[in-house]
Amino acid sequence: MAIIRLNVNGIVHEKEMDPHMPLLWVLRDILGLTGTKFGCGIAQCGACTVLVDGKAVRSCSIRVQSAVDKDIETIEGVEATPFRSLQQAWIDEQVPQCGYCQSGQLMNAIGFLKSNPNPTDEEILNAMSGNICRCGTYPRILKAIQSVVEQSSKNTGI
Ligand code: FES
Ligand code: FES
Repeated sequence: MAIIRLNVNGIVHEKEMDPHMPLLWVLRDILGLTGTKFGCGIAQCGACTVLVDGKAVRSCSIRVQSAVDKDIETIEGVEATPFRSLQQAWIDEQVPQCGYCQSGQLMNAIGFLKSNPNPTDEEILNAMSGNICRCGTYPRILKAIQSVVEQSSKNTGI
């Protein structure tokens, strides 16, 4: 066990934990941030996706010690960022069905748009292809991302 310091959604947490624990366990069970979901536990479904230093990662499969001194972003923090427009597009397009995969979908989309703010449809589909949705919401996810990309090309950015 060790005292680990984590910056999550701009808030610094200092807690005692096993540094080898998966980041997902820490977010959900120690910090109470249950918006990030457990799906497969083996980096195959994307339900647990969060951002670490702006990049989408599978939090079930990285050790918490690798996220120390980095900026961690979870679904709970999105509303306070410019990417709330993407969250709103998810609502406008009525993307979620059961909703279980959707925080991972949104965080993956945000990580992708940070690196490629003006993607083609093919690039969007490629970037999102690793996030599994058992309800089959893929066409709505594409529409929501397209709508934000279109809007941002008209304005100054998302
Ligand atoms: S729970 Fe992490 S990828 Fe499935
Ligand atoms: S909305 Fe049900 S798993 Fe994606």
